[in-house]
Order: sequence, then C-alpha cells, then structure tokens
Amino acid sequence: MESDNEHILLPELKSKGIHLDVKREDLLHPVISGNKFRKLKYNLKYARERGSNIILTFGGAYSNHILATACAGSENGFQTIGVIRGEELKEKWKENPTLVEAHAYGMQFRFISRAEYRKKEDAIWLQHFLKGQHDVYVIPEGGSNSLGIKGCEEILLPSDKAYDHICCAVGTGGTLAGIINSSDPGQHIIGFPVLQSAGTAKDIRNFTSQSNWTLEYSYHFGGYAKTSPLLIHFMNSFKENTGILLDPVYTAKLFFGIFDMAKNGVFPTGSKILAIHTGGLQGITAMNMKLKKQNLTQIQL
Ligand SMILES: Cc1ncc(COP(=O)(O)O)c(C=O)c1O
Repeated sequence: MESDNEHILLPELKSKGIHLDVKREDLLHPVISGNKFRKLKYNLKYARERGSNIILTFGGAYSNHILATACAGSENGFQTIGVIRGEELKEKWKENPTLVEAHAYGMQFRFISRAEYRKKEDAIWLQHFLKGQHDVYVIPEGGSNSLGIKGCEEILLPSDKAYDHICCAVGTGGTLAGIINSSDPGQHIIGFPVLQSAGTAKDIRNFTSQSNWTLEYSYHFGGYAKTSPLLIHFMNSFKENTGILLDPVYTAKLFFGIFDMAKNGVFPTGSKILAIHTGGLQGITAMNMKLKKQNLTQIQL
C-alpha cells in the first residue's frame, strides 16, 4: 500500500493474513507528540485570535497533555498554568519528571485536591477559580474540546481510506471522535479504552454523528496507568522486533489488543488495519522509576 504509514511485518500477523500499518503521530514533534499536537493546534490559534496570553489546562501528575501544553505554550509565546490533580504534589512535584519538564518550559502549577478537581467542568467553579481573569484561555483535560477534535480530524489522510479497520487508544475519547469524523462510513474504527469509564461512549457520541465505531474494553489492564509484567514484556518484544517504542499507558494497550484480537481470529483474513501511534513516550521515565522500585522488568528504550 502506498502511504507514509509504517508497515509491521511480523509472523503472527502474516500467518493470519493481516496487514498492519502504524501511523507515526509520535514523530510529529519531539515533545508535543501525537494527538497532543493535533489537539493543541486550533486551540492555540483561537487563543491568539481572542487575545489571550495565558493558557490554563488540567491534568494528572504524569499527564502527556500537561507537558505538551507547557512546551507548545513556550514555543508559541503563551504563559501556561497547569492545574494538577493532587494537593500532596505541592510538596513533592520536583520528584516527578513530567512536572519538572513542564516547569522547565515555564508552566506554573496550581495543585488542587481530587474533590476540587472533579468540579473542573462546572462553569461556576471555574469562574471562581479564575477570579475574573478574562485573558486566560482554558483548555479542558486532555485537550478534548471541539477545537481539539477538529485537529484530530487531520490525523487521517485521504490515502487512509484504503484501511478496513482503524485502531486507536482512548482516554477521554476526543482523538477517536476526530478519527471517526474523518473516516469513511464503510471503515470500522476501534477504540481501546485505557480505563473503565461508563461515560466514554457517550462522550464520543457528543462529538460525532457517525456510527461506524466500537470500543474494545478488554485491554485496559486494570485501569489508567496500570500495567503488568505481561504488558511490559509485550512492549519490549515489540520494540525489539519493530524498532518502535510504545508508551505503557496508551499505545502498549492498543497494540497488545490488536495482536490478541488477531490471534483470536477477530479480524478476517485479508484485513488491512491501521493503528495510530499517539505518542506519550515521556511517561516511560516515571513508569520505569516505579518498576525499578518494585524490582520489576523495566521498559527498554
Ligand atoms: C499518548 C496518548 N494516546 C492516546 C490518548 C487518548 O486520547 P483521548 O483522550 O483523546 O482519548 C492520550 C490521551 O491523552 C495520550 O496521551
């Protein structure tokens, strides 16, 4: 097939008659990689047009979106504020590689309790939190607003219409919604949620009217940022066999799922599958610190 996507030639796929390619969104930018690049593109453009100099956004301690926003803000002349889940991090954020790097790009932090963090979508809470500062442009957690999804609609190219199945990891669902919107109705878009959340399908439906998609809930490995020796082993052998590094939170679960479904005969012989590598590799450092503490096999770089 003619495209810039990278072909994965492995015996376990070939024996099932499956053609798997990877879209290397992880290579878009050294820091603002993958879907974050897509999600921030139109948000930053809009912030500039409305005259905002400050971008404020939300995330957990190891958030790819927090780091990407810090870097994109610094590259595009915005001040950035990260509202971070977990008051306890106020005292120990310097032990966290994601937050240290985001801070190096000039991001200021506001650490809030988990209870307060849950209110972040409440307009009254936000108004109070911003204390009337009108020059602040707020991007939601994960960058999944309509402008973020508009950016994700640019992930697929016209040549990608040749694939039968398009597979992507799912957190908030914004990236998948963008992919669905730019897919052909005859293509099957499969999302692999990395956490068990009852509301994900509903959130995706808010951003798309197409119905050519499903969610595959069997590969979240116990929840967000949870791994297992089996998943780490899969990542290390995938890297050894293909040269492609996966991240432990999103793309490792996606590829594990695709390989498992292929093994179980879910994809018909002759299927052409495109998997989206959405980046997130910055999270490996923190995960390896955790694995080392537990005396477990680490992710090979
Ligand atoms: C590397 C990576 N892949 C996939 C996703 C899932 O994206 P979404 O939240 O749009 O579902 C994220 C989420 O933030 C991510 O950081």
